[in-house]
Amino acid sequence: MDVNGKKAIVFGGTSGIGLATARRLADAGAAVVAISRDPSKAGDPGPGITLEQCDVRDRAALRTLFEKQGPFDILISAATGGDRAVGPFLEMDMDGYQGSFDKLWGYTNVVRFGAGHLAEDGCIVLVSGAPARRMKPGQIAIGSVGGAVEAFVRGVAPELAPRRINVVSPGQIDTPMVALKGTDREAHYKKTTAGHLIPRAGTADEVAQAVILAVTNDFMTGTTVDVDGGWLLS
Ligand SMILES: NC(=O)c1ccc[n+]([C@@H]2O[C@H](COP(=O)([O-])OP(=O)(O)OC[C@H]3O[C@@H](n4cnc5c(N)ncnc54)[C@H](OP(=O)(O)O)[C@@H]3O)[C@@H](O)[C@H]2O)c1
Repeated sequence: MDVNGKKAIVFGGTSGIGLATARRLADAGAAVVAISRDPSKAGDPGPGITLEQCDVRDRAALRTLFEKQGPFDILISAATGGDRAVGPFLEMDMDGYQGSFDKLWGYTNVVRFGAGHLAEDGCIVLVSGAPARRMKPGQIAIGSVGGAVEAFVRGVAPELAPRRINVVSPGQIDTPMVALKGTDREAHYKKTTAGHLIPRAGTADEVAQAVILAVTNDFMTGTTVDVDGGWLLS
């Protein structure tokens, strides 16, 4: 797909990986709508990007948004959905564990209600995460969610064809998701990537590059692209 002149909808497009993706799409000539619960966090997102407010967990609001914004060619979600539980499963608060799946419900809402507005040659990209296939201690909640996202994409790809759907799976990426500042932030990323083949956090733009690959390569569907600095081999 040539992105130039296309319309793209990016949920979670106001921060981190989603915002970097929105910027790359806009730079390539797409008209981009970046969406989150509080889009003001994007500040001035730059030319070619307009902001909209919507919570991906709110099905009625999503249907209204899609009615307003459709038709479109590119549908992306990097929206985290809500809070994630961290820690050993046998000590886990089960409401927290179940709440972690807001990411999955948000993604599945976006596909369920967005697909009907997507062009026949359009494509969808969702974002999972390396813990889906290699969990570190304490990551069972987000790992379970990521695994479900990847299984969902493989399962729904035949229904969506000829429209395409793929997953990009980031490793440890330096985004506003981590609130730490200064030396605490540096120490966090140093510690969490120490055993990786590329021992640093990735950038949001490095992940956005892979999202653009999944958008532009017309022979890719139902698959996962890892952008993880070698996390899966560490
Ligand atoms: N950063 C990493 O190391 C990493 C690693 C692996 C996977 N990932 C995955 O990559 C994706 C993007 O993460 P990120 O690091 O870019 O995070 P981020 O900078 O915190 O961005 C998350 C985006 O999702 C939006 N969002 C969250 N809940 C939402 C909801 N219920 N409805 C609509 N929008 C919502 C946020 O905006 P509002 O708060 O305004 O809604 C924000 O725009 C996530 O799925 C994350 O799990 C990240």
